[in-house]
Amino acid sequence: MKKKQNNRKEQLLFQRYGADSVPKNIIYNEQIDLLLSHRSVRKYLPDALPDGTIETIIAAAQSASNSSNLNQWSVIAITDPELKSEIAKTSRLGSKFGMGNPYIEQAPVFLLWIADMSRNNKISLVENETAQVLQYTDAFLMASIDTAIASQNAVVAAESLGLGIVYIGAMRNNAKEISVLLNLPDYSYVVFGMAVGKPDPTEVSRIRPRLSQNAVLHYNGYNKDRWLDEVTVYEKAFLEFREEIGLKNKSWQETVRFSSNDLTYMEGRENLRTTLQERGFKLL
Ligand SMILES: Cc1cc2nc3c(=O)[nH]c(=O)nc-3n(C[C@H](O)[C@H](O)[C@H](O)COP(=O)(O)O)c2cc1C
Repeated sequence: MKKKQNNRKEQLLFQRYGADSVPKNIIYNEQIDLLLSHRSVRKYLPDALPDGTIETIIAAAQSASNSSNLNQWSVIAITDPELKSEIAKTSRLGSKFGMGNPYIEQAPVFLLWIADMSRNNKISLVENETAQVLQYTDAFLMASIDTAIASQNAVVAAESLGLGIVYIGAMRNNAKEISVLLNLPDYSYVVFGMAVGKPDPTEVSRIRPRLSQNAVLHYNGYNKDRWLDEVTVYEKAFLEFREEIGLKNKSWQETVRFSSNDLTYMEGRENLRTTLQERGFKLL
């Protein structure tokens, strides 16, 4: 039994980091196994989610820490196929790839994670009060952080139930239109979407490697140069991953450069601040 576990642990770490960067001394248990096994799922079976799935994963999400216990997020579960199509369309408008994210429509449930200061804004506007704290960038960041932390708890819960997910940041491509479509109150916005469903076993996919811990983990201060060599090592694992799942040959650094240098990467998200300000966030 022990031997089998060790093999699985090694296999997971090998896929996560590539052969040359497997970290030593990893403690292993069922939860760690689940976390190390994560991969985004982009092909779903049409099966409905088992009863209670949404409530269960939202209970997991609500169990996450949240800033000052202010409860500043909401989630909208989209199950209506027509609405899913409308929502998928908003992510495509600025897309130079045309097809956008087809899994939004394929997955039985699409969750929209909303940073939501609207409730607390209403609660706070009493007598001559102005809810001035909510006008600051930090308040916006707080609600966004809390939304992200909660959603990741939902991911872990969903994956523990044998489901797959993919986050959809492209829900911010047309932040204005999606807000109208969902009838969102002021002081709220969609941070990202998340497709949830049963993974289609025919999808060609696997665990996606990450940068070595030598590049991301620092002790007692930031080591500014060490990551450079790690990137070269990472390229090997990255390339192997792409080859294995049939993606065209491209280096990780090329991906990074495109995402940093080319505004088309933003697919409309360059307008986000304007929309946020129209929605009440002053971002002072
Ligand atoms: C906030 C966020 C937004 C994302 N947006 C998209 C998206 O719009 N479309 C997509 O296909 N994947 C999206 N992803 C998935 C990432 O591409 C994926 O997590 C990353 O490539 C690592 O792969 P893995 O999740 O399989 O480990 C997003 C992930 C996060 C965390």
